[in-house]
Amino acid sequence: SAETQDDLKLKVAQEASKLVKDEMVIGLGSGSTSNMFIKELGKRVLEEELYIYGVPTSFDAKMLASQCGIPLVSLDQAGQIDLAVDGADEVEEGTLSLIKGGGGCHTMEKVIDYCAKEFVVLVDESKVVPSLGENTPVPLEVLPFAYSTVLNTLLEMNTAPSIRVSGGKMGPVITDNGNMIIDVFTKIDEAAVKEKELNNIVGVVENGIFSKCDKVLVGNSSKKVKVLKK
Ligand code: A5P
Repeated sequence: SAETQDDLKLKVAQEASKLVKDEMVIGLGSGSTSNMFIKELGKRVLEEELYIYGVPTSFDAKMLASQCGIPLVSLDQAGQIDLAVDGADEVEEGTLSLIKGGGGCHTMEKVIDYCAKEFVVLVDESKVVPSLGENTPVPLEVLPFAYSTVLNTLLEMNTAPSIRVSGGKMGPVITDNGNMIIDVFTKIDEAAVKEKELNNIVGVVENGIFSKCDKVLVGNSSKKVKVLKK
């Protein structure tokens, strides 16, 4: 029988949980794939009495990790993060650059993922693309006070920006940090260059282009999880 997208996500989450060793400090990513990793890690903590600490990248990751019995520590208390495991919305096949922030948590994710000794990304094969940003907008976390000047700058850059709204509630989506999200379709020739350019806009806290990661685990229909490395 054909595997669903959730089956593929679970496969990479289980594979990633094997990367965790005793006494490690682990960056806990956000999103449905990271959630599966957190649950798998929680099982190991319980069954093997693994002694680890997690550093969550969002309120949701924090809540789930607490429920799963993973001891948590704040970033400043963590010292070194040994391994960060996170999802992504798009992975560029040749460069392993990413777009993240579909869930609006990319700022905390980037702070934690970038400072980890190893940053591993979990996706199913539908997220791997030849060229970044053609079908997925880049999210910008923006200070609410500055939304109009950021929008104007983005329009001058010939991009197509839109303020993120949610289904039920009126007004903009508000991030875990109390900011807004502006999603922007923009051409990405070089991820590292575009990442800097977008962060240069005054009022932007952080954007969802991740120009670096160490390893991508790709869930596909074959038995073995595919590993992409630079
Ligand atoms: C959260 O802001 C994002 O960066 C997530 O990591 C990303 O959206 C992946 O989520 P899924 O695993 O649910 O696709």
